[in-house]
Amino acid sequence: MPHDGIIYLDHAATSWPKPPEVFAAVKRALGPAGGNPHRSAHRLALEAARLVLEARSAVASFLGAGDARDLLFVPGCTFGLNMALKGLLGAGDRVVISSVEHNAVMRPLAVLEAHGVEVVRMPVDGAGRVDLDAAEAIIAAGKTKAVVCQHASNVTGAIQPVADLADIAHEHGAVLVVDGAQAAGHLRVDVRALGADVYVASGHKGLLGPQGVGVVYLAPGLELPELVQGGSGGESVSPAMPDARPDRYEAGTPPVPAIAGLAAGVGVLARELDAIMAHERRLVQRLVDGLLEVPGIAVLGPAPGEERAPVVSIIHESVEPDRIAYELDSRFGIAVRSGLHCAPAAHASAGTLETGAVRFSVGRGVTEDDVERAVEAVREVCQA
Ligand code: ALA
Repeated sequence: MPHDGIIYLDHAATSWPKPPEVFAAVKRALGPAGGNPHRSAHRLALEAARLVLEARSAVASFLGAGDARDLLFVPGCTFGLNMALKGLLGAGDRVVISSVEHNAVMRPLAVLEAHGVEVVRMPVDGAGRVDLDAAEAIIAAGKTKAVVCQHASNVTGAIQPVADLADIAHEHGAVLVVDGAQAAGHLRVDVRALGADVYVASGHKGLLGPQGVGVVYLAPGLELPELVQGGSGGESVSPAMPDARPDRYEAGTPPVPAIAGLAAGVGVLARELDAIMAHERRLVQRLVDGLLEVPGIAVLGPAPGEERAPVVSIIHESVEPDRIAYELDSRFGIAVRSGLHCAPAAHASAGTLETGAVRFSVGRGVTEDDVERAVEAVREVCQA
Protein backbone atom coordinates (compact mmCIF):
# COMPACT_ATOMS: atom_id res chain seq x y z
CA MET A 1 0.00 0.00 0.00
CA PRO A 2 1.30 3.47 -0.73
CA HIS A 3 2.13 5.34 2.50
CA ASP A 4 1.35 9.06 2.39
CA GLY A 5 0.71 8.63 -1.34
CA ILE A 6 4.22 7.28 -1.90
CA ILE A 7 5.26 3.88 -3.14
CA TYR A 8 8.62 3.66 -1.44
CA LEU A 9 11.12 1.48 -3.27
CA ASP A 10 14.33 2.99 -1.90
CA HIS A 11 14.96 0.72 1.09
CA ALA A 12 18.62 0.29 0.14
CA ALA A 13 19.12 3.99 0.80
CA THR A 14 17.12 3.94 4.03
CA SER A 15 14.13 1.91 5.17
CA TRP A 16 10.79 3.73 5.33
CA PRO A 17 8.34 3.92 6.94
CA LYS A 18 9.83 2.77 10.23
CA PRO A 19 7.70 0.40 12.33
CA PRO A 20 5.57 2.04 15.06
CA GLU A 21 7.74 0.22 17.64
CA VAL A 22 10.68 2.33 16.46
CA PHE A 23 8.80 5.59 16.94
CA ALA A 24 7.75 4.48 20.44
CA ALA A 25 11.32 3.55 21.39
CA VAL A 26 12.72 6.87 20.16
CA LYS A 27 10.04 8.68 22.16
CA ARG A 28 11.00 6.78 25.31
CA ALA A 29 14.67 7.63 24.74
CA LEU A 30 13.74 11.30 24.55
CA GLY A 31 11.48 11.06 27.60
CA PRO A 32 11.88 8.78 30.63
CA ALA A 33 15.21 7.45 29.34
CA GLY A 34 16.41 10.88 28.24
CA GLY A 35 19.52 11.21 30.43
CA ASN A 36 23.14 10.71 29.44
CA PRO A 37 24.05 7.01 29.86
CA HIS A 38 27.11 6.05 31.91
CA ARG A 39 27.66 9.64 33.04
CA SER A 40 25.26 10.93 35.68
CA ALA A 41 23.62 8.68 38.30
CA HIS A 42 20.08 10.06 38.40
CA ARG A 43 17.08 8.10 37.20
CA LEU A 44 16.96 9.51 33.67
CA ALA A 45 20.61 8.60 33.13
CA LEU A 46 20.20 5.15 34.66
CA GLU A 47 17.23 4.46 32.37
CA ALA A 48 19.32 5.57 29.41
CA ALA A 49 22.15 3.26 30.49
CA ARG A 50 19.74 0.36 30.86
CA LEU A 51 18.31 1.09 27.42
CA VAL A 52 21.77 1.05 25.78
CA LEU A 53 22.73 -2.14 27.63
CA GLU A 54 19.59 -3.94 26.52
CA ALA A 55 19.90 -2.62 22.98
CA ARG A 56 23.48 -3.90 22.74
CA SER A 57 22.41 -7.37 23.86
CA ALA A 58 19.47 -7.45 21.45
CA VAL A 59 21.48 -6.37 18.40
CA ALA A 60 24.44 -8.61 19.31
CA SER A 61 22.18 -11.61 19.68
CA PHE A 62 20.35 -10.84 16.41
CA LEU A 63 23.66 -10.69 14.50
CA GLY A 64 25.15 -13.74 16.20
CA ALA A 65 27.87 -12.01 18.25
CA GLY A 66 28.59 -14.24 21.24
CA ASP A 67 29.39 -11.43 23.66
CA ALA A 68 27.47 -8.15 23.53
CA ARG A 69 30.70 -6.26 24.32
CA ASP A 70 31.97 -7.22 20.86
CA LEU A 71 29.14 -5.20 19.33
CA LEU A 72 29.99 -1.51 19.09
CA PHE A 73 27.64 1.38 18.38
CA VAL A 74 29.11 3.87 15.92
CA PRO A 75 27.58 6.82 14.05
CA GLY A 76 26.97 4.73 10.92
CA CYS A 77 28.27 2.08 8.58
CA THR A 78 30.64 4.52 6.86
CA PHE A 79 32.16 5.49 10.21
CA GLY A 80 32.51 1.82 11.15
CA LEU A 81 34.28 0.95 7.92
CA ASN A 82 36.63 3.92 8.32
CA MET A 83 37.36 2.80 11.86
CA ALA A 84 38.16 -0.73 10.73
CA LEU A 85 40.24 0.16 7.68
CA LYS A 86 42.20 3.00 9.27
CA GLY A 87 42.68 0.97 12.42
CA LEU A 88 43.91 -2.14 10.65
CA LEU A 89 46.04 -0.78 7.83
CA GLY A 90 49.19 1.31 7.70
CA ALA A 91 52.07 2.01 5.32
CA GLY A 92 53.48 -1.20 3.82
CA ASP A 93 50.33 -3.26 4.46
CA ARG A 94 48.51 -5.09 1.67
CA VAL A 95 44.71 -5.20 1.49
CA VAL A 96 42.65 -7.21 -0.98
CA ILE A 97 39.17 -5.94 -1.82
CA SER A 98 36.40 -6.91 -4.22
CA SER A 99 36.19 -4.81 -7.35
CA VAL A 100 32.61 -3.77 -6.57
CA GLU A 101 32.98 -2.00 -3.21
CA HIS A 102 31.00 1.07 -2.13
CA ASN A 103 32.71 4.43 -1.63
CA ALA A 104 32.51 3.85 2.13
CA VAL A 105 35.34 1.39 1.47
CA MET A 106 36.91 2.88 -1.66
CA ARG A 107 37.41 6.41 -0.35
CA PRO A 108 39.10 5.56 2.96
CA LEU A 109 41.26 3.12 1.01
CA ALA A 110 42.20 5.86 -1.47
CA VAL A 111 43.50 7.89 1.48
CA LEU A 112 45.34 4.87 2.89
CA GLU A 113 46.78 4.08 -0.54
CA ALA A 114 48.25 7.58 -0.65
CA HIS A 115 49.91 6.73 2.68
CA GLY A 116 51.57 3.57 1.39
CA VAL A 117 48.92 0.84 1.71
CA GLU A 118 48.85 -1.53 -1.26
CA VAL A 119 45.27 -2.07 -2.48
CA VAL A 120 44.64 -5.07 -4.76
CA ARG A 121 41.28 -5.90 -6.34
CA MET A 122 39.59 -9.28 -6.75
CA PRO A 123 37.57 -9.69 -9.98
CA VAL A 124 33.87 -10.53 -10.04
CA ASP A 125 31.87 -12.66 -12.47
CA GLY A 126 29.11 -11.41 -14.78
CA ALA A 127 26.61 -11.44 -11.91
CA GLY A 128 28.87 -9.27 -9.76
CA ARG A 129 30.02 -12.06 -7.43
CA VAL A 130 33.63 -12.47 -6.35
CA ASP A 131 35.44 -15.21 -8.25
CA LEU A 132 36.81 -17.39 -5.42
CA ASP A 133 39.62 -19.05 -7.41
CA ALA A 134 40.94 -15.70 -8.55
CA ALA A 135 40.45 -14.36 -5.01
CA GLU A 136 42.55 -17.11 -3.47
CA ALA A 137 45.39 -16.58 -5.95
CA ILE A 138 45.38 -12.83 -5.30
CA ILE A 139 45.20 -13.14 -1.52
CA ALA A 140 48.04 -15.68 -1.56
CA ALA A 141 50.20 -13.62 -3.91
CA GLY A 142 51.53 -11.35 -1.16
CA LYS A 143 51.48 -10.85 2.59
CA THR A 144 47.82 -9.82 2.81
CA LYS A 145 46.81 -8.17 6.06
CA ALA A 146 43.10 -7.79 5.37
CA VAL A 147 40.45 -8.85 2.88
CA VAL A 148 37.51 -6.47 2.54
CA CYS A 149 34.24 -7.43 0.91
CA GLN A 150 30.64 -6.34 0.94
CA HIS A 151 28.08 -8.95 1.97
CA ALA A 152 25.61 -7.77 -0.68
CA SER A 153 25.84 -5.16 -3.41
CA ASN A 154 23.75 -1.99 -3.21
CA VAL A 155 23.81 -1.88 -7.03
CA THR A 156 23.29 -5.42 -8.28
CA GLY A 157 22.06 -7.19 -5.16
CA ALA A 158 24.77 -9.83 -5.70
CA ILE A 159 25.45 -11.77 -2.51
CA GLN A 160 29.13 -12.40 -1.94
CA PRO A 161 30.56 -15.70 -0.71
CA VAL A 162 31.83 -14.14 2.51
CA ALA A 163 32.13 -17.38 4.49
CA ASP A 164 34.41 -18.84 1.79
CA LEU A 165 36.38 -15.60 1.69
CA ALA A 166 36.80 -15.80 5.46
CA ASP A 167 38.27 -19.30 5.14
CA ILE A 168 40.67 -18.19 2.42
CA ALA A 169 41.66 -15.03 4.29
CA HIS A 170 42.32 -16.94 7.51
CA GLU A 171 44.33 -19.63 5.71
CA HIS A 172 46.65 -16.88 4.52
CA GLY A 173 46.88 -15.02 7.82
CA ALA A 174 44.56 -12.16 6.89
CA VAL A 175 41.46 -10.83 8.62
CA LEU A 176 38.13 -10.43 6.86
CA VAL A 177 36.25 -7.13 7.05
CA VAL A 178 32.65 -7.29 5.79
CA ASP A 179 30.50 -4.34 4.74
CA GLY A 180 27.04 -5.58 5.71
CA ALA A 181 25.13 -2.40 4.85
CA GLN A 182 22.81 -4.13 2.39
CA ALA A 183 22.64 -7.50 4.09
CA ALA A 184 21.70 -6.99 7.74
CA GLY A 185 17.93 -7.24 8.07
CA HIS A 186 17.54 -8.66 4.56
CA LEU A 187 19.63 -11.83 4.87
CA ARG A 188 20.17 -13.97 7.95
CA VAL A 189 23.47 -12.72 9.33
CA ASP A 190 25.48 -14.71 11.85
CA VAL A 191 28.81 -12.95 12.13
CA ARG A 192 30.58 -15.86 13.80
CA ALA A 193 29.22 -18.49 11.39
CA LEU A 194 30.37 -16.26 8.53
CA GLY A 195 33.85 -16.08 10.04
CA ALA A 196 33.95 -12.27 9.85
CA ASP A 197 36.63 -10.62 11.96
CA VAL A 198 34.91 -7.28 11.51
CA TYR A 199 31.30 -6.97 10.36
CA VAL A 200 29.89 -3.48 9.90
CA ALA A 201 26.20 -2.71 9.42
CA SER A 202 23.99 0.29 9.02
CA GLY A 203 21.25 0.84 11.62
CA HIS A 204 18.80 2.66 9.36
CA LYS A 205 18.50 0.30 6.39
CA GLY A 206 17.41 -3.32 6.76
CA LEU A 207 17.68 -3.10 10.55
CA LEU A 208 14.81 -0.58 10.48
CA GLY A 209 16.30 1.92 12.95
CA PRO A 210 16.66 5.69 12.65
CA GLN A 211 19.60 7.32 10.90
CA GLY A 212 22.57 8.16 13.13
CA VAL A 213 23.72 4.76 14.31
CA GLY A 214 25.55 1.78 12.87
CA VAL A 215 27.19 -1.25 14.41
CA VAL A 216 30.61 -2.86 14.27
CA TYR A 217 31.16 -6.45 15.33
CA LEU A 218 34.79 -6.83 16.34
CA ALA A 219 35.85 -10.44 16.86
CA PRO A 220 37.19 -11.25 20.32
CA GLY A 221 40.93 -10.66 20.56
CA LEU A 222 41.10 -8.31 17.58
CA GLU A 223 41.86 -4.81 18.83
CA LEU A 224 42.12 -1.69 16.67
CA PRO A 225 43.39 1.74 17.56
CA GLU A 226 40.18 3.68 18.17
CA LEU A 227 39.38 6.35 15.57
CA VAL A 228 38.07 8.90 18.04
CA GLN A 229 39.02 9.72 21.63
CA GLY A 230 36.97 11.52 24.26
CA GLY A 231 34.84 11.06 27.32
CA SER A 232 33.77 7.53 28.15
CA GLY A 233 32.09 8.08 31.50
CA GLY A 234 34.78 6.09 33.36
CA GLU A 235 38.57 6.04 34.03
CA SER A 236 38.38 9.78 33.40
CA VAL A 237 41.72 10.63 34.98
CA SER A 238 43.65 8.74 32.30
CA PRO A 239 44.65 10.60 29.13
CA ALA A 240 44.03 7.37 27.17
CA MET A 241 40.75 5.69 26.32
CA PRO A 242 39.89 2.71 28.55
CA ASP A 243 41.03 -0.65 27.16
CA ALA A 244 37.71 -2.38 27.74
CA ARG A 245 35.08 -2.87 25.07
CA PRO A 246 32.80 -1.21 24.19
CA ASP A 247 33.98 1.96 25.99
CA ARG A 248 37.25 2.17 24.09
CA TYR A 249 35.45 2.59 20.78
CA GLU A 250 32.50 4.74 21.84
CA ALA A 251 33.90 8.12 22.90
CA GLY A 252 31.34 10.84 23.54
CA THR A 253 27.64 10.75 24.28
CA PRO A 254 26.01 7.91 22.35
CA PRO A 255 23.00 8.56 20.06
CA VAL A 256 20.55 7.02 22.52
CA PRO A 257 17.35 7.75 20.53
CA ALA A 258 18.88 6.13 17.44
CA ILE A 259 20.14 3.16 19.46
CA ALA A 260 16.70 2.73 21.04
CA GLY A 261 15.02 2.82 17.64
CA LEU A 262 17.56 0.37 16.24
CA ALA A 263 16.88 -2.09 19.06
CA ALA A 264 13.15 -1.78 18.43
CA GLY A 265 13.69 -2.41 14.71
CA VAL A 266 15.76 -5.46 15.52
CA GLY A 267 12.99 -6.63 17.87
CA VAL A 268 10.57 -6.56 14.93
CA LEU A 269 13.07 -8.43 12.75
CA ALA A 270 13.75 -11.06 15.40
CA ARG A 271 10.06 -11.97 15.20
CA GLU A 272 9.53 -11.54 11.46
CA LEU A 273 12.80 -12.07 9.59
CA ASP A 274 11.89 -15.34 7.87
CA ALA A 275 8.57 -13.94 6.69
CA ILE A 276 10.20 -10.67 5.58
CA MET A 277 12.88 -12.52 3.62
CA ALA A 278 10.34 -14.74 1.87
CA HIS A 279 8.19 -11.71 1.05
CA GLU A 280 11.18 -9.75 -0.29
CA ARG A 281 12.22 -12.70 -2.45
CA ARG A 282 8.74 -12.78 -4.04
CA LEU A 283 8.78 -9.03 -4.63
CA VAL A 284 12.22 -9.16 -6.21
CA GLN A 285 11.22 -12.04 -8.48
CA ARG A 286 8.17 -10.14 -9.62
CA LEU A 287 10.20 -6.98 -10.18
CA VAL A 288 12.85 -8.79 -12.21
CA ASP A 289 10.31 -10.70 -14.30
CA GLY A 290 8.03 -7.69 -14.79
CA LEU A 291 10.79 -5.23 -15.66
CA LEU A 292 12.37 -7.65 -18.12
CA GLU A 293 9.05 -7.80 -19.97
CA VAL A 294 9.35 -4.06 -20.71
CA PRO A 295 11.00 -3.70 -24.13
CA GLY A 296 14.53 -2.26 -24.00
CA ILE A 297 15.20 -2.98 -20.32
CA ALA A 298 18.15 -4.91 -18.93
CA VAL A 299 18.55 -5.92 -15.27
CA LEU A 300 22.02 -5.73 -13.71
CA GLY A 301 23.55 -8.49 -11.62
CA PRO A 302 22.33 -12.01 -10.88
CA ALA A 303 20.17 -13.78 -13.48
CA PRO A 304 16.39 -14.05 -12.92
CA GLY A 305 15.69 -16.67 -10.27
CA GLU A 306 19.17 -16.44 -8.73
CA GLU A 307 19.48 -15.36 -5.13
CA ARG A 308 20.09 -11.65 -4.53
CA ALA A 309 19.60 -9.01 -1.86
CA PRO A 310 16.31 -7.15 -2.44
CA VAL A 311 17.80 -4.71 -4.93
CA VAL A 312 17.01 -4.60 -8.66
CA SER A 313 18.82 -2.09 -10.88
CA ILE A 314 17.90 -1.53 -14.50
CA ILE A 315 18.97 0.39 -17.56
CA HIS A 316 16.89 1.14 -20.64
CA GLU A 317 18.30 1.22 -24.15
CA SER A 318 17.21 4.83 -24.75
CA VAL A 319 15.57 6.44 -21.69
CA GLU A 320 18.14 7.75 -19.18
CA PRO A 321 18.02 6.46 -15.59
CA ASP A 322 17.58 9.95 -14.12
CA ARG A 323 14.63 10.55 -16.44
CA ILE A 324 12.99 7.28 -15.40
CA ALA A 325 13.47 8.04 -11.69
CA TYR A 326 12.18 11.58 -12.12
CA GLU A 327 9.06 10.46 -14.00
CA LEU A 328 8.36 7.70 -11.49
CA ASP A 329 8.45 10.21 -8.65
CA SER A 330 6.68 13.13 -10.27
CA ARG A 331 3.96 11.26 -12.18
CA PHE A 332 3.43 8.14 -10.10
CA GLY A 333 4.67 8.91 -6.57
CA ILE A 334 7.18 6.07 -6.79
CA ALA A 335 10.47 6.63 -4.93
CA VAL A 336 13.57 4.95 -6.39
CA ARG A 337 17.23 5.95 -6.67
CA SER A 338 19.08 6.58 -9.93
CA GLY A 339 22.73 7.41 -10.64
CA LEU A 340 25.84 5.67 -9.37
CA HIS A 341 24.58 4.84 -5.85
CA CYS A 342 27.93 5.95 -4.33
CA ALA A 343 29.38 2.80 -5.87
CA PRO A 344 31.25 3.70 -9.07
CA ALA A 345 33.34 0.54 -8.80
CA ALA A 346 30.23 -1.64 -8.97
CA HIS A 347 28.91 0.36 -11.91
CA ALA A 348 32.27 0.14 -13.70
CA SER A 349 32.16 -3.62 -13.33
CA ALA A 350 28.54 -3.75 -14.59
CA GLY A 351 29.42 -1.49 -17.56
CA THR A 352 27.15 1.34 -16.33
CA LEU A 353 29.71 3.86 -15.09
CA GLU A 354 28.74 6.33 -17.82
CA THR A 355 24.98 6.03 -17.47
CA GLY A 356 24.30 4.87 -13.92
CA ALA A 357 21.11 2.87 -13.43
CA VAL A 358 17.68 3.04 -11.81
CA ARG A 359 17.50 1.04 -8.60
CA PHE A 360 14.35 -0.45 -7.06
CA SER A 361 14.92 -1.71 -3.54
CA VAL A 362 12.20 -3.31 -1.48
CA GLY A 363 11.73 -3.96 2.20
CA ARG A 364 9.19 -4.53 4.95
CA GLY A 365 5.86 -2.93 4.12
CA VAL A 366 6.22 -3.01 0.32
CA THR A 367 3.33 -4.92 -1.26
CA GLU A 368 2.95 -6.95 -4.44
CA ASP A 369 0.57 -4.26 -5.66
CA ASP A 370 3.31 -1.62 -5.16
CA VAL A 371 5.64 -3.66 -7.31
CA GLU A 372 3.01 -4.20 -10.03
CA ARG A 373 2.36 -0.47 -10.12
CA ALA A 374 6.08 0.23 -10.38
CA VAL A 375 6.46 -2.15 -13.32
CA GLU A 376 3.49 -0.61 -15.10
CA ALA A 377 4.82 2.89 -14.45
CA VAL A 378 8.21 1.95 -15.92
CA ARG A 379 6.45 0.53 -18.96
CA GLU A 380 4.58 3.83 -19.46
CA VAL A 381 7.67 5.99 -18.96
CA CYS A 382 9.76 3.92 -21.33
CA GLN A 383 7.09 3.73 -24.03
CA ALA A 384 6.45 7.46 -24.08
N1 ALA B 1 24.53 3.54 0.15
C1 ALA B 1 23.16 3.89 0.16
C2 ALA B 1 22.47 3.54 -1.13
O1 ALA B 1 22.90 2.60 -1.76
C3 ALA B 1 22.91 5.27 0.60
O2 ALA B 1 21.54 4.21 -1.52
